[in-house]
Amino acid sequence: MKPKEDEVSTIHNEGTILKGIGAIEIGVGLGILGLLKFRIIRGINLAIRDAIKGRASDPYVVLNVGDQKLKTSVIKNNCNPEWNEERTISIKDVTTPIHLSVYDKDTFSVDDKMGDADIDLKPYIQCVQIMGLNKLPNGSVVMTFQPDETNCLSQESCCIWRNENIVQEMTLGLKNVESGELVVEIEWVDVIGCRGLSHLQF
Ligand SMILES: *[C@@H]1O[C@H](CO)[C@@H](O)[C@H](O)[C@H]1NC(C)=O
Repeated sequence: MKPKEDEVSTIHNEGTILKGIGAIEIGVGLGILGLLKFRIIRGINLAIRDAIKGRASDPYVVLNVGDQKLKTSVIKNNCNPEWNEERTISIKDVTTPIHLSVYDKDTFSVDDKMGDADIDLKPYIQCVQIMGLNKLPNGSVVMTFQPDETNCLSQESCCIWRNENIVQEMTLGLKNVESGELVVEIEWVDVIGCRGLSHLQF
């Protein structure tokens, strides 16, 4: 897979944005395997946390992977928010779980929790390793995963061949909360100079 220019040139490192060839060298130096595009599509039936009666929550999502922490914007007064936001994270170790937490933005107090979920990258990575070299018609389903006790899926999840790459679509059931699901997508991006996935074994 050929990474796009802008994806190659930017690697986020503890708040610094490194550009160009320097980023590639540093990518190898830091042991980065590549990048993962993470799209937070929407929330479904999220918990109500607002103190004012009749109002919904003001939800946002926090994404934690190792020492990286990224947030979506806050969507006001909506328990079925549509974010459609993309964040890019660098991956050093595919066994590090991706942790998602949903919060209700409060102006005057600490933000309330609205549940969380973990994503295990390994099934997706294995799918990319197995299917990555095939060229399939756009939109083809290449693999499916069922919800079970080892994942946070609330329905069947598909890996889809889309725009010359494999995307996994997931609906996650939030834990530690009375209700709520998150619809997200992940997409691997190979970066020139990084080690990539082909050498990994599970
Ligand atoms: C592939 O399908 C997606 C929708 O799944 C669409 O947005 C995209 O434009 C299509 N790409 C091509 C190259 O046809």
